[in-house]
Amino acid sequence: MRSLLFVPGDSPKKLDKGLASGADALLLDLEDSIAPQHKAQARATTLSFLKEARSAKTRPRLFVRVNGLQTGLIDDDLDAVVAGQPDGIMLPKADGGAAVIHCDAKLTAREAINGLPDGALDIIAIATETAAALFLAGSYAGASQRLKGLTWGAEDLSVELGAEANRDAQGNFLAPYQLARSLCLAGAAAARVPAIDTVYVDFRNEGGLKRECEEARRDGFAGKMAIHPAQVAVINQVFSPTAEAIERAHAVIAAFAENPAAGTVGIGGVMYDRPHLERAKQLLARAGKL
Ligand code: COA
Ligand code: MG
Repeated sequence: MRSLLFVPGDSPKKLDKGLASGADALLLDLEDSIAPQHKAQARATTLSFLKEARSAKTRPRLFVRVNGLQTGLIDDDLDAVVAGQPDGIMLPKADGGAAVIHCDAKLTAREAINGLPDGALDIIAIATETAAALFLAGSYAGASQRLKGLTWGAEDLSVELGAEANRDAQGNFLAPYQLARSLCLAGAAAARVPAIDTVYVDFRNEGGLKRECEEARRDGFAGKMAIHPAQVAVINQVFSPTAEAIERAHAVIAAFAENPAAGTVGIGGVMYDRPHLERAKQLLARAGKL
């Protein structure tokens, strides 16, 4: 998944716009974009949207961002929306692998109640929203088969840290948030799931978004979350492997296949070794899953 677009779960108009946005996934939000007094209405709106949208022939993957385990709201969220058979849920404010295990158990119960196969719903966890979570970023490996991605957030973390800002005057993340970003990346790699970069809130600044996407791809992120439909095309473009990169990956794999005992091969005057082979396989796997 390259682009994952947040859509407030209480807005039928935005939900429909999200479907047409070209995003690989929609994150139907019941958490931060919904005021406490509108949670119940948002659950109902999200459920009826899911029921209609999930049967479309081509559609984005549909995830519901529920409220965190600490809020006392997550059970009502799941009781409402699992019946709509989303592809998965996004778990905010996850404190490590234990939070994913906890959430997994809650989903197992709802799948049984709704007659869905065991393990039908995936989980994407937001891994850096509390201070404690930073110290648990390495604990996701083996937590649950459901876990299909890790992402990170700077907004809730900056509140928790008591910070005045999370970006500098040029729009670059300050040190505590660069750390959170790196921990997400390493935590995801350790758990063998894709890392997904956080949102870029300055949604009219296309140049800034593009730069942040390119930096994320360079560092190993597989995709990025969006908050506005206008961000989707840029994200999809930057995170789609180019035809040239795909061709190079095929060439590397072919060269090693011809020389199975080789540690290094030369292609067009450039040396490639075993890590390059792994990278080529990764790129093709990613390209195949778009
Ligand atoms: N999903 C679907 N549609 C969206 C959208 C989104 N995330 N953001 C905006 N749109 C729609 C608007 O409704 C508007 O539709 P219209 O032309 O039919 O009126 C159109 O896209 C253009 O929107 P625009 O006027 O540029 O922005 P806005 O002022 O209406 O909305 C936000 C700005 C930030 C409120 C809006 O983008 C939003 O709600 N984003 C998601 C917020 C969220 O989920 N946050 C939680 C995660 S951090
Ligand atoms: Mg939040």
